[in-house]
Amino acid sequence: MKITIRQPDDWHLHLRDGDMLNAVVGSSARHFGRALIMPNLVPPVVTGADALAYRERIEQAVAATQTVNGFTPLMTLYLTDTTQAEDVVAAAADGLVLAVKLYPAGATTNSSSGVTDIGKVMPVLEAMAKHDIVLCVHGEVTDPAVDIFDREARFIETVLQPLRLALPELRIVMEHVTTRDGVEYISSSRSHLAGTLTPHHLMINRNHLLVGGIRPHYYCLPIAKREEHRLALVAAACSGDARFFLGTDSAPHTKSSKESDCGCAGVFNAANTLVCVASVFDEANALDQLEAFVSLNGPRWYGLTPNVATLTLTKTAEPNAIPDPVPVADEWVMPFDPARPVYWHVS
Ligand code: NCD
Ligand code: ZN
Repeated sequence: MKITIRQPDDWHLHLRDGDMLNAVVGSSARHFGRALIMPNLVPPVVTGADALAYRERIEQAVAATQTVNGFTPLMTLYLTDTTQAEDVVAAAADGLVLAVKLYPAGATTNSSSGVTDIGKVMPVLEAMAKHDIVLCVHGEVTDPAVDIFDREARFIETVLQPLRLALPELRIVMEHVTTRDGVEYISSSRSHLAGTLTPHHLMINRNHLLVGGIRPHYYCLPIAKREEHRLALVAAACSGDARFFLGTDSAPHTKSSKESDCGCAGVFNAANTLVCVASVFDEANALDQLEAFVSLNGPRWYGLTPNVATLTLTKTAEPNAIPDPVPVADEWVMPFDPARPVYWHVS
């Protein structure tokens, strides 16, 4: 079986910097036309000037991979308590920045510079609503009293819904939705709200992470939830609903920093995302919706045209091997193991 679709884009990608950037960028550039680059470097990408410099470093890294089909990094800014509205508006007007990312302070990897109180960034959010600049949110509360498995649902109630009522004109993406609550909240919204879904949350649940031994390479944030939530995510991805699109959240960490007494959150899936997602859509008998999810819905939300190039996926009797570990400096980054045979291949 064979399916040809417009070249996909990745609407949520961590490329890191330095040696790690050079090591992982080829895995994305090989398959994707564009990617929305997350700004959680240390220190974060806060200003237009930071984004410009980071984009140049990514472009150099892409050039060094000698990828032939071209790969365009689309930049985001990291919202902090002290972000200046004028800087955000100018960076978006220049076409340098496509969206701004809100990390609640302490929610995830490299988020210590994040927003401590949404009230502090209201002037920036108002300016973004006025100029139609998209806000991407890491949708988890950080209150230590809230159980880690409830943090997304609680964020919707206590942060997202009040924000949307206060600023109905602001367009928001709930990034890496992991719960039925998130899916239902997005599908019941009238407008101005979309969600990205990751390949790993479409394939694994919390048992994969915790049963039969702890699997640090499945640890990511938001954490994988119960099977009923995974099923809701698959249904949303396969529904054809234009508000849902692919954001891989590919987030490389070295093997030793994952396999540690305090392991880092993040799944490195860039190299096998498309074969994994094709396999999920195939199992759901929804291959006719694959192109919408990976190649059409995202550009439509961001006001861009779909890629002109195409990509062909083929299903064979031979399962796809898990991609090889990627060397970085004197270490390795371990690719996502989908925990089941995947019979799809990028031709
Ligand atoms: C991401 C990272 O490592 O930068 N980790 C993750 O588990 N997804 C940060 C994030 O997107 O939450
Ligand atoms: Zn992420």
